[in-house]
Amino acid sequence: MTGGQALGILALGAYAPQRVMRNEEFEAYLDTSDEWIVTRTGIRERRIAAEDEYTSDLAFKAVEDLLKRHPGALEGVDGVIVATNTPDALFPDTAALVQARFGIQGFAYDLLAGCPGWLYALAQAHAMVAAGLARKVLVVGAEALSKILDWNDRATAVLFGDAGGAAVVGRVREGFGFRSFVLGADGTGAKELYHACVAPRLPDGTSMRNRLHMNGREVFKFAVRVMNTATLEAIEKAGLTPEDIKVFVPHQANLRIIDAARERLGLPWERVVVNVDRYGNTSTASIPLALKEAVDAGRIQEGDHVLLVSFGAGLTWAAAVLTWGGA
Ligand SMILES: CC(C)(COP(=O)(O)OP(=O)(O)OC[C@H]1O[C@@H](n2cnc3c(N)ncnc32)[C@H](O)[C@@H]1OP(=O)(O)O)[C@@H](O)C(=O)NCCC(=O)NCCS
Repeated sequence: MTGGQALGILALGAYAPQRVMRNEEFEAYLDTSDEWIVTRTGIRERRIAAEDEYTSDLAFKAVEDLLKRHPGALEGVDGVIVATNTPDALFPDTAALVQARFGIQGFAYDLLAGCPGWLYALAQAHAMVAAGLARKVLVVGAEALSKILDWNDRATAVLFGDAGGAAVVGRVREGFGFRSFVLGADGTGAKELYHACVAPRLPDGTSMRNRLHMNGREVFKFAVRVMNTATLEAIEKAGLTPEDIKVFVPHQANLRIIDAARERLGLPWERVVVNVDRYGNTSTASIPLALKEAVDAGRIQEGDHVLLVSFGAGLTWAAAVLTWGGA
């Protein structure tokens, strides 16, 4: 898809905060139960950032993990994109903090596109390298969602967690790398999932409220629909069929949504990466974190076709197919 240039993921890293918050902690003060949360979402626990730990800190830790695993991976990186919905501040962009921290020469900007932001950023990095604007791009997804949750809203507080993930996108050997991207948005669903920090007027007509708002039922229906359409489109664009997909790494929001997508694709559970039980929904960090765990567990080998898909606020969606390895 790049006119003879194969581009893929050269290095990967991720980080989740130390503090584990189990479902039982919600039982202590909310009208909810571990049983309800596990049955409806598959989530058992999530990681919560420390009081003084913000999105940039999680991004730094993810990049440090990447460097530990792939020393020298930042050589030749000409820019940083950080996909996040919870930047430390509206500006400067969190990517600038990452750029300074690691002494990267080049551009730095944030990308806001709901949970699929990291996949959007991968697509942008891919396009930039293909266009000769950069040799390599560092693509980070990081979220401190715990900072914007309404901890008294049982319908949202139990769903999310904090984490960071990072990848370096650049040239790989022929036959490896990205085979397709699908990016989409439907802004008519803007009111179903939002967080306002500086907006005086929200899509539902109310004014600024500093908390995440979600219509879970609508987002659920939307998610099941776009997970199906986006994955099938990405597989077709890649010139493959669902049976060719060795490993499916879906956005980790809800086990029932993952199961619906898995079933539609006809994939056995052995080919699906699931860690929503341990991290909840970490938004833009969700896919890199799951991808890294799958690589570490030896579940993804050179030459495997890997399918990624995500959905989220916007409403947005994205999917990609890549052939792993070739670095
Ligand atoms: C949020 C979600 C888990 C709710 O599950 P659900 O089976 O759809 O449940 P419903 O929304 O139909 O709510 C059923 C009842 O459970 C209640 N409920 C919601 N959260 C609850 C909780 N943590 N504990 C107990 N009850 C809860 C609701 O208030 C509702 O009660 P009511 O019938 O008295 O009004 C589900 O809709 C979902 O996962 N949606 C997608 C969310 C998502 O992925 N967001 C991230 C996008 S990136």
